[in-house]
Order: sequence, then structure tokens, then C-alpha cells
Amino acid sequence: MSGKEPCPVIFVRPCRSSVDDNCVVLVQHLPPGLAVTIHALIHSEDDDFWEAFGHYISDDRGSVNVAKNASIGGSYDGVEPMGLLWSMKPIPGSRPGLRFRKKDVHTPLVVHLSVYRDHMHEGFKDTKALACAVAERWYMAPGVQKVCITENGISGTLFLPPGPGPFPGLLDLWGGGGGLVEYRSALLASHGYVSLALDYLTPKTSDTQHVGNDYFEAAYSLLQEHPQVCANRIAMLGLSFGTSVALGMAVYSPVIKPKCLVCVSGSHVMPVNGSLSDVFAEIKKNVRNTRYDEENRVIWRDLLLPIPDDPSKKVDVGRIQCPVLLLVGEDDQNWPALESAEDMKQMMERAGNSHLLTVASYPGTGHLIEPPYSPHVRSSNFMVAQSRTKVVVVWGGQTVPHSKAQEDAWQKTLAFLEEHLYGTTYR
Ligand SMILES: *[C@@H]1O[C@H](CO)[C@@H](O)[C@H](O)[C@H]1NC(C)=O
Repeated sequence: MSGKEPCPVIFVRPCRSSVDDNCVVLVQHLPPGLAVTIHALIHSEDDDFWEAFGHYISDDRGSVNVAKNASIGGSYDGVEPMGLLWSMKPIPGSRPGLRFRKKDVHTPLVVHLSVYRDHMHEGFKDTKALACAVAERWYMAPGVQKVCITENGISGTLFLPPGPGPFPGLLDLWGGGGGLVEYRSALLASHGYVSLALDYLTPKTSDTQHVGNDYFEAAYSLLQEHPQVCANRIAMLGLSFGTSVALGMAVYSPVIKPKCLVCVSGSHVMPVNGSLSDVFAEIKKNVRNTRYDEENRVIWRDLLLPIPDDPSKKVDVGRIQCPVLLLVGEDDQNWPALESAEDMKQMMERAGNSHLLTVASYPGTGHLIEPPYSPHVRSSNFMVAQSRTKVVVVWGGQTVPHSKAQEDAWQKTLAFLEEHLYGTTYR
């Protein structure tokens, strides 16, 4: 008989979950009072590695529970049940300027968890772990369908919850980085909404000249006419530049009558009645307001400042007729979301529709308010869609408050959508 002792074990429960669900990481059968490091690693689709880790001491039964015990060092401190995800950063030596984004929503984020002896800061790859576990984190719930949309000149992806419906609909608009970004829509479909992630800023669809109101109206109509969508229960969700589009459409379009709007890190400042190219032309006039930080990274928040008094340069939010949720990062270095929110509030107070406005404003929070537990990225490479030039952009935010804000903003978003799209009848 060899005197082999069983090794410690590390569990994640649940081992398969939605990216916005909490999970519990548990280590058992360690020697009592042992210093250990719990490490999480994601190998991204672009072949980069992101990691987070916490330092713990096992208790007198040889256990560590990440949901209950405090990390005393590592990439986060204190009792942080989800710290192993939100505090992820690219591993040392990675390419600079990375941003964390899932492209293929048919596959989960695969999180490799390991527990190591001692309080380590580096060298994980070359150290033998005491125990390992794997967790899957999904944007797209089982049964959600993904449909590519190419009809009527529209380029986008439609996500449908399982079942016959009809469901409320969402038109999901990302920002000036352009392209088709699907993960948020996949997640929203997992919460019971037919969500259309719309591509409106790539060379394929634009020629920004050719993306006018009719493009967004066609996308909205597509949702409205879909047999699994409740035609009068459609919301628009915009982030950054997508907010300007959503607000503009809600106020000026004869076709788009959303039930509510969720505006993340955005502004109402844009030329009224302009096409997207007019909007970018207007922004370009203020390029001299660009600032650079000590590492020569671009700060664009002043491009729309000061907020103009000229009513032809901003969406007349006094005419909005549906509830609006504004989510604002007070350390947004990319867009003047805070100043815009203040100006919108004043405009709506003057017009008498401010009862429709809810503002959630978060200190220490940057521009990229993502679904919860997404790693915080303070700056990253950015391809300017119009000129195809690459810059490094400062988004802002501090990791801890930004991560807490992402959790709260997502809960507020889901509650707001439920209230205004499903109504309160079921509660
Ligand atoms: C970890 O948390 C558990 C449950 O709250 C507690 O009983 C245990 O003493 C904690 N361990 C340490 C080392 O603080």
C-alpha cells in the first residue's frame, strides 16, 4: 500500500452559470492555517490571458470559501465573492491596450481556477497547483436562439428567448467603436427579451453617410413586426454614441416610439436632424479639445464640452415621452456623460417631463459600464471607425468602485426593463 493522501479540492458552484450570476469558490481538505493563493485564468479568443488572484489562509478545518472569507492580498482585498472575475487583468507581459470582450457567444467564458501553496504574485504558469477546477460563464442561456439579420439592408444579430413568445423587444446600440457586438444582447435574451444587436458603424454598413434615420427605423420595424415580439413593448438601449442615436430617434422619429430608454455613458449633444456623418463632423470640429494623459493616451471627454446652449446642437429631451434610465460613470474620461446628464435633467425639468427621468450616477466609474463581473479596463486600444487610425483611449474608472457600479447598473437596468416592458401585472 502506498501511503498516498488525498489532495485538496477546489469547487465552483454552480460550475456552469450566466455571466451575471454569482458563484461560490470553495477550497477544502487543505492543512489548517495554510497560506494559499486562489487564481483564476481566462484564455481569450484572441489568445491573450487574463488573471486574478486572492491570498487566503485556510481555516481550522482546512477550508477557504471565497464568498465568505477575506482576501488579504492579490488582485483584490476583503470578502469579494466575485473578485476572481472582476479584478482580472491581462497577465504580465501581455500585449498592451487589451479590452476584455467575448465574440463568440455560442461558447462560454472558460475560467480555470487553481489553488497554490503560499501567497504568490507571479509565476503561476510554472508552479504546480494543489488543485484545479473549471467554470463556464455564459452570455447566452440554453435555448436562446441567435439569428443573423441581413434583410432590408440591416446588419445585426437577433437573439430570441426560448419558447413561443411574444416577448418584449430591445434594440441594442453600441458606441463609436462600431462593429457588431453581441454579448450584451445575448445576455438580455437570456432574461426574456428579444434583443437585436445592431451594427451601424462598420465599413460593411457604412459609409456612415448612408446610415440615416431610416436605417434605425428599419431595424425598429423589424423588431416590431417580428411574430415573437410585442410590438408596443420595445425599448432602446444605447451605450456611448448609441445613446445619442437612441435619444434622437425617440424624440424625432415618427416611427420609433420606444416604451423606455436605457442610456449608458452617453450624451444628448448632437446636431438635430443630422445624419451620423453630420454628427461626426460636429465632433471633429472640437478635436482640438482632445487631451492626453501622462502616457499619451487619448481623453475625449471634452470634445462635447461645454454643453452647448444652442438647441439645434442637442436632442430636445424635453420632448421625450417615455421613461429614461441614465447610467453615468462620474470618472468617465471618454464622454461627458455626467455633464450631459445634468443638462438633460435641467432641460426635462424646464419642459415638465423630468418625472420620466431616472439618473444613476456612480463615483469612481468609467465609460465602459459592462455587464457585472466584467473586468475593468481603464484604457485600451481603439480603432477610430472613420479614419481607421489606432489610438489608446482612456475610458476611466477605478477597479473597485467601477466593478460595484457594474453590478448595480445591471440590476437597475433589468428592474427598469421589467417594470416598463413587462409591466407590473405579474408582481
Ligand atoms: C472563513 O469563513 C468561515 C465562514 O464564515 C469562517 O467560519 C472561517 O473562520 C473563515 N476563515 C478564516 C480563515 O477567517
